[in-house]
Amino acid sequence: MSAPAPAAAPAAAPDQQQPAFRGVFGFIGGAVAKAISTTFIVLVVAAFVAQHVLDDKKTIMDAKTHSPEVVLARMLARFEAGSVIPPFEKYHVNRPEAVAMLQGVLRPALLKDYTVVIGEVGCGKTTAVLDAIRANSTGIVYHIVGAELPVDVPKRLAGSLAFAFNQFTFTAGYFKDRGIELHEVTSAEEPFKSWVLLSLSLRDVAQQFKTKHGHPATLVIDAVDQIAQQGPALLHAIQDFAKAAADEQLLNVVLVTCDGSNLPELKASSAMTRARVVEVSDITDEQAVDFLLHRGVNEDAAKRAVAEIAGGRFVLLNSLVFELQFKTVEQIFLKFHIGTRGALRRLFGDLAQISPPVSSTFCRLCRGAQHVDDVEEALGLDLTKKLLATNINILAYHPNKTYTLHSRHVQRSVAALLNCTRS
Ligand SMILES: Nc1ncnc2c1ncn2[C@@H]1O[C@H](COP(=O)(O)OP(=O)(O)OP(=O)(O)O)[C@@H](O)[C@H]1O
Ligand SMILES: *[C@@H]1O[C@H](CO)[C@@H](O)[C@H](O)[C@H]1NC(C)=O
Ligand SMILES: *[C@@H]1O[C@H](CO)[C@@H](O)[C@H](O)[C@H]1NC(C)=O
Ligand SMILES: *[C@@H]1O[C@H](CO)[C@@H](O)[C@H](O)[C@H]1NC(C)=O
Ligand SMILES: [Mg+2]
Repeated sequence: MSAPAPAAAPAAAPDQQQPAFRGVFGFIGGAVAKAISTTFIVLVVAAFVAQHVLDDKKTIMDAKTHSPEVVLARMLARFEAGSVIPPFEKYHVNRPEAVAMLQGVLRPALLKDYTVVIGEVGCGKTTAVLDAIRANSTGIVYHIVGAELPVDVPKRLAGSLAFAFNQFTFTAGYFKDRGIELHEVTSAEEPFKSWVLLSLSLRDVAQQFKTKHGHPATLVIDAVDQIAQQGPALLHAIQDFAKAAADEQLLNVVLVTCDGSNLPELKASSAMTRARVVEVSDITDEQAVDFLLHRGVNEDAAKRAVAEIAGGRFVLLNSLVFELQFKTVEQIFLKFHIGTRGALRRLFGDLAQISPPVSSTFCRLCRGAQHVDDVEEALGLDLTKKLLATNINILAYHPNKTYTLHSRHVQRSVAALLNCTRS
């Protein structure tokens, strides 16, 4: 017999339920004791009844604090308050143009399309986006995808949006109202099931926000390249949502990615045609030298390191601050040079065999950006794609329909390896 178990359960219930428990226990205990004089049975029955009363009370409390209305109200409040952006640390380079551009993206005068913000790995996208939000985050929720498994992406996004799945009562009627059959949702696999549930509530809240404030709220999802790495299906679902939200002028969705490599391809997908692609680029060489000086690098090394290795790429500048403590600019460049030479040899075999138009195209790329059509025609689509891959990092795509070489040191290495001379 499991008599002690039900008696133990109410005792462990949360504090706010204690008074009700004691009241019910006392009342029933007294009534039953009059009829049957076995204390043991009284306790068992009383505990059993008390458990039921507690279950009912808990259901009522859930209905009060966790009804769909309350869940949505919490999400709405999150948008209205906006995400809290921490202050910046260390030496900070002000980028007024990039920040102003991003502020335009975050608060569009007219919502026509969703936005994809691209920029090379470590060029300062996240920092610039946070700079743009920090001044006034009202109406903006910022979420960054971490190293979590794709199956957990919607759950973590839900956390940033203050959405609680298990506290929301989804009914067949709820789905019918939104043009979806219940079984479509219940039969879906994760993470798509969670994504559908979250996105439906997100739409409702976006509608509430717009009605109340007269303009759409903004949702920023940073590092979506992390989602794409595990297969594009979830990212495509998010893009479809972003596109639909823009079509209905409901919610301004901004996706941030370092993966420009498959952008030309993604642009062909239907959801991508509606995206506005903007770029966060490198800082200027002058800003980069200034940055190194502020981080304790001497002037001569700073100028050469920027000109020959890093240009205005933050991720390279940060590693230079560290490496220049015990290596020369030449030594650091040589390491990069060997990497680039190896990558090109794996693609081409003997570099001396590279001939026009491929070699001449590379040499033109060493001098500056080239139109995508010219590069793709000269190199062929297959080769262009390989050169764009993030593990090769020879070419970089830019939304102004150009390609450049990936970074300053790649430009210098390619020019040397292919004997390009300025003419
Ligand atoms: N304006 C800035 N001033 C000073 N440091 C910066 C600035 N922007 C970026 N950094 C530094 O450069 C590094 C990369 O920046 P950030 O993470 O913003 O780049 P990202 O483009 O988002 O990178 P990823 O492609 O990995 O997402 C960080 O260490 C960051 O602190
Ligand atoms: C922040 O932006 C909101 C919405 O665009 C606006 O209503 C509000 O006045 C701004 N607040 C500040 C302090 O500028
Ligand atoms: C570049 O020039 C060097 C010697 O001047 C030669 O050995 C090398 O093969 C040349 N490389 C290419 C790609 O033409
Ligand atoms: C396109 O963008 C790249 C990278 O920001 C830049 O270097 C290039 O000058 C731009 N080209 C044109 C034609 O605008
Ligand atoms: Mg980032």
